[in-house]
Amino acid sequence: ASPNVQAYRASLLHFRADPAFDDGAALLYEDGLLIVEDGRIQAAGDYAALAPTLPAGLEPVDYRGKLIVPGFIDTHLHYPQTDMIASPAPGLLPWLETYTFPTERRYEDHEDGRTTADFFLDELLRCGTTTAMVYCTVHPQSVDAFFAASEARNLRMVAGKVLMDRNCPDFLRDLEGELGESEALIKRWHKRGRALYAITPRFAPTSTEAQLRLTGELAAAYPDTFIQTHVAENRDECTWVGELFPQARSYLDVYDSYGLMRPRAMFGHCIWLDDEDMARMAATGSAAAVCPTSNLFLGSGLFDFERADKAGMLLSLGTDVGAGTSFSLLQTMNEAYKVARMKGSYLTALRMFYLATLGAARAMGLAETIGSFAPGLEADFVVLDREATPLMARRTGHSHSLEELLFALALLGDDRTVAATYSYGRLVHER
Ligand code: GUN
Ligand code: ZN
Repeated sequence: ASPNVQAYRASLLHFRADPAFDDGAALLYEDGLLIVEDGRIQAAGDYAALAPTLPAGLEPVDYRGKLIVPGFIDTHLHYPQTDMIASPAPGLLPWLETYTFPTERRYEDHEDGRTTADFFLDELLRCGTTTAMVYCTVHPQSVDAFFAASEARNLRMVAGKVLMDRNCPDFLRDLEGELGESEALIKRWHKRGRALYAITPRFAPTSTEAQLRLTGELAAAYPDTFIQTHVAENRDECTWVGELFPQARSYLDVYDSYGLMRPRAMFGHCIWLDDEDMARMAATGSAAAVCPTSNLFLGSGLFDFERADKAGMLLSLGTDVGAGTSFSLLQTMNEAYKVARMKGSYLTALRMFYLATLGAARAMGLAETIGSFAPGLEADFVVLDREATPLMARRTGHSHSLEELLFALALLGDDRTVAATYSYGRLVHER
């Protein structure tokens, strides 16, 4: 049988390194061709060079005037919080009590989970996000519902069951130290199709020491799984952790002491880390999910990109829906840019597109699978329309450089900017 080949003609942009540290990091083909074979990248380059290699009779899909980039990767968000996005509260802890825990209770019902997961995944695809690291709830059925919805769309998704066994309502509490459900979910879902499992202790205050110890043991027993949690998001939370774990040097040190820092461990927020914490992040190959729309919404604080870069931390961007206020990584870039400005540092648009693609894939240890157009990688990509709105058309009509174009896309763009989304070579959203 002849292989299943498709080709797409457009401007192409992807990365082979971090543009903050390498001038040759970005690969741009103004008149480019992307060739996909059986769901994987076969080639990406200049149209003139690659068109002659196409099988006879194959007409490329014509996206000229548009920009194709790798699918966006969102490294931190909560699918059960979709319906409570934009719920006001004076900070993280009251927001959790008032909105989050009552909402997450609904996910003891598998059907509710499936309905929300279907909506959530379609919303991600509308925004050009093809991979995400997703928190479910404490209910194992919320994980089954999520992965079933993801499998139906054949998406590369990472998710896990929230672990919490104290400082939460009874209706959301694990039996103390209970890890058997997580282990069963790893066996059921990790590496089944495109699904990947993340061991998911919610955050230090909602786990007993016994649960954190067992969580570290589970992570060691299944070393190719992911880990995700929250750290140093909010000042009141940091104070609370200091009271709950008086022996720990810092909030991050709680996780470190239970063996939860390693490659494929994703730490949400990382706002109030000190230099020693940041050095541990880099030394252990752990990664930060920076969530600016959430941090501004809850008043949590401003992430320090400059200090993180000095420490050599792996960085990525998360929407953190439902505390985050948008599913769009373009809108997340917009806020990340302003957060960096408020800290006196600067993010180029090129860097932000890197962070949302190859940077995130590297942070997750998945750069051999997704995040760029290197041959053999899974063909997850988005087609961006620089003329999505009258204002964007007016502004990008006279952008003088790639940086100006990307900056306008990041600052003015949202779901409307995503003309089409492809996952594993298949069209999964078209505006
Ligand atoms: N810390 C613990 N749980 C949560 C959550 O659901 N959202 C955010 N933003 N922070 C948390
Ligand atoms: Zn979160």
